[in-house]
Amino acid sequence: MCGIIGILGKADGTPVAQDIVSGLKRLEYRGYDSAGIATLEKGQIVRRRAIGKLNALQSVLSTSPLPGTVGIGHTRWATHGGVTVENAHPHTTERLALVHNGIIENFAELREELIAEGVTFQSQTDTEICAQLITHTMETQNLGAEDAFAHSLKRLRGAFALAVIIAGNEDVMLCARRGPPLAIGHGISGKEAGQMFVGSDAYALAPFTNHITYLQDGDHAIITRNSVEIFGEDGKPVNREMVVSSAADTMVDKDGHRHFMAKEIHEQPEVVAHTLAQYVDPVTGSISLPDGTFDFAKLNRLTISACGTAYYAGLVAKYWFEEWAGLPVEIDVASELRYRNVPYAEGGGALFISQSGETADTLAALRQAKEQGQRIATVVNVPESTIAREADIIFPMAAGPEIGVASTKAFSCQLTALAVIAIAAGRARGKLSAEEEKELVGALLAIPRLMSDALKLAPAIEEMARDIAKATDILYIGRGVQFPMAMEGALKLKEISYIHAEGYAAGELKHGPIALVDESVPIVVLAPFDRHFEKTISNMHEVMAREGLAVMISDAQGLAHAGKDVWRKIEAPTSHPLLSPLVTVIPIQLLAYYTATTKGTDVDQPRNLAKSVTVE
Ligand code: M6R
Repeated sequence: MCGIIGILGKADGTPVAQDIVSGLKRLEYRGYDSAGIATLEKGQIVRRRAIGKLNALQSVLSTSPLPGTVGIGHTRWATHGGVTVENAHPHTTERLALVHNGIIENFAELREELIAEGVTFQSQTDTEICAQLITHTMETQNLGAEDAFAHSLKRLRGAFALAVIIAGNEDVMLCARRGPPLAIGHGISGKEAGQMFVGSDAYALAPFTNHITYLQDGDHAIITRNSVEIFGEDGKPVNREMVVSSAADTMVDKDGHRHFMAKEIHEQPEVVAHTLAQYVDPVTGSISLPDGTFDFAKLNRLTISACGTAYYAGLVAKYWFEEWAGLPVEIDVASELRYRNVPYAEGGGALFISQSGETADTLAALRQAKEQGQRIATVVNVPESTIAREADIIFPMAAGPEIGVASTKAFSCQLTALAVIAIAAGRARGKLSAEEEKELVGALLAIPRLMSDALKLAPAIEEMARDIAKATDILYIGRGVQFPMAMEGALKLKEISYIHAEGYAAGELKHGPIALVDESVPIVVLAPFDRHFEKTISNMHEVMAREGLAVMISDAQGLAHAGKDVWRKIEAPTSHPLLSPLVTVIPIQLLAYYTATTKGTDVDQPRNLAKSVTVE
């Protein structure tokens, strides 16, 4: 999704444009299709914009530099209006320049109103309405920019974060938040002293400062070089704490890998071990959950919700909560749950899973569950995120910054945290004995080693991907805990290789999807040697009987029982049967990754996708 950076630089004349580009680089992971910067030059707004990646903007800046000491920059992920220079941010008027993340829902009606009053628009975006509305309010109501900004915010509907600079005023930046996050960075010491910053997240501001004030929903702020005034939704001044952020100040690099995704796939043994270390005592083989966690013994239902890959982690966890804790689980994607009339149980618990902690649908579902009196827990990667801040219970994961748009290590860490929680719930509910807990903890502690072994499959899978890359449709099937993995495998492949792929419960194949099978369709069969093995294998043979190309991902025992004529075999290490998703995850990620690199797609920033989906 769009990213925002604003810098109120030193008053000594040092230009801020290159620092803005550096900040925008750290927002690239969110996904974008154009970028732009505006600064003030002798009080006048000047801007540079380009479609495509930041290097396109850099080359515009190298021929036409921006000298200003106050500026705003933006990476745009198109919502309203195509990917064109005219639609790229910042949007400007004679009076101001503005950048925006989110959606202005009532832009069409406001646009009509302003057009009727003689305002002309230069873009098709919903964003320009904000710039024009503030300007029009300044001109027609004779207000200063700060008052016109506050006044205009009341007229905007939707979810948005805004940053504004004002013509003729080198000393002020304005910003506002209704939904998507926005952080104010304080230049406290060193070469950044005397500067102020605004950014979509603390990570983007980390090279400049780690002293951060997060705007809360409904806030707007007036920032000068030596003051920050914040106003709440009712327009009254509010105090918002300045915190020291833990966001890393070094640029995350690829560590010798070709893509962030490859690096993140290879980091999984380590980050899963770090996640386990937060919960597990390896000596006693016991699990401790954070203080104030759910009273699992009394809980009669757990609602789980998330989006995309995080949702599939939740689906795997449903099997675990049922099996180990006998706990009924209601699970739905957040974009549906938020609009359902869910009959929540009194005193019930709801668990939201999110890497970014900013996904708009997940946040809305969380708020709805909270309104219905549910105790809210989250498995979240970004501890300073909105979801983390609004939850009653935080189950941390230790994935570290995930830059590739396709989620890999965050997914494994979500699974790890969820497995630990489900086992602890089983103990609390008397379904698991201390001995069984210890055995499962032992199996979990083996996962990082098994993941490292699975990573050795990379060269063989790279080779195999040359054939897979020729396909136009691919099916993934699995049973039990491997059913969500089939969907995750298909999602990963389609996201980055653009090959059409679907994941099905193996037993559903006969109810429709088998009609798609012919000699051109590979079917990835996720079949560890567990209690579902025979059934899944008979589904694989049904496919092979129709000339489908079976790609079997199993363990040594499974492959020994697979029979002949399996088109391609991938031998993953053997694990505890219910924890097998934490091992099969590696080959399915590698298969997607190498298929995409064979096709030459943009692995880290696939077309049309955003890392953090902060709009509905
Ligand atoms: O940040 P979140 O975990 O809330 O994001 C949820 C989904 O948007 C995310 O998992 C998405 O499906 C990824 N692109 C999957 O690789």
